Amino acid sequence: MAKRQLTPEELQAEQDLMQKVQNGYMVESVEEMTPGYKKALSVQLTVQADTELMSAPSYWRAAQHAPSTNTMVSAHAIIQDELAHANIAYRLLEDLGHSKEQLVYGREPHEFKHPYGFDQPLDNWAELVVATGFFDRAGITLLTDVHENTSYGPLKRALIKVGMEETFHLRHGEVWMRRLSKAGDHARGMLQRAVDWMFPMTIEWFGLPDELKRHSGQLDYKLKGLTNDQLRQVWMQSTVPLSESLGLKVPAHYDEERKEYVLDYPFPCEYDAEAKHWDFDGGEISWDQVFERWKARGPMNEWYVESIRRSRGQVESWLNDQAAA
Ligand SMILES: [Fe+2]
Ligand SMILES: [Fe+2]
Repeated sequence: MAKRQLTPEELQAEQDLMQKVQNGYMVESVEEMTPGYKKALSVQLTVQADTELMSAPSYWRAAQHAPSTNTMVSAHAIIQDELAHANIAYRLLEDLGHSKEQLVYGREPHEFKHPYGFDQPLDNWAELVVATGFFDRAGITLLTDVHENTSYGPLKRALIKVGMEETFHLRHGEVWMRRLSKAGDHARGMLQRAVDWMFPMTIEWFGLPDELKRHSGQLDYKLKGLTNDQLRQVWMQSTVPLSESLGLKVPAHYDEERKEYVLDYPFPCEYDAEAKHWDFDGGEISWDQVFERWKARGPMNEWYVESIRRSRGQVESWLNDQAAA
């Protein structure tokens, strides 16, 4: 569908709202939103909701590898938090006129908007703890920025609870990465292999570099404060020193002259999802190629979506069985 040109009055209304929120105005209800604001907020909340939702089956599958009952319980506590975070974001989307039912049950698996990282299998305990150490750190990086800068009041308040729980997830990841790093060569090797594919996966998660970034309106409407490259730097500022302090190798270093972290590999580059291998030797690829890979979705996409939806059918058929008994 071709995009309709805004009338001068509509354009003025969009610009007025941008100006207002840039001056610190907080939007509290849908009546105050322009169509542009509502659309940009809907996109942001859908990505947030879908990311939280897909982290649950991904962590749940990996929690089967927990080394003890207690550790399995902590993994399940994280999964419960993620489902609650997803519910918060879908609930906020309902205020904007979207249907939670349609969003969770009415879309094809490839239509979900979570990052490619949550289309990947986490195959052992090391991969689960690096996911909570790296992916949850990415979540905290993105959501802290939204919490501090968003012009949408209901989201700002909801993120207080989310942020506190994400800190627990991250702590879980870091504590366990430390434990595994000291648990001998086998555990250490498993940890390093997880880091090898999950570090570049998280770097890519932050999206297009600023110089190529398409205009999304999220900064204009003050739905976030930092750019993709700035967020990538924030994530590396914690993750690179953490990994180095545990003796883990990561393909990035701090450049004293540029006063920022620099990647030591071609970015972006191709990823072999079956082998969990980044093709550094293949050199840099275009972002169009990355978008193509993201759009095709990764190996666990359908399985994760199905496992989210499965429960409803199971409960319904159990209840039917009870009624028939
Ligand atoms: Fe979460
Ligand atoms: Fe989390």
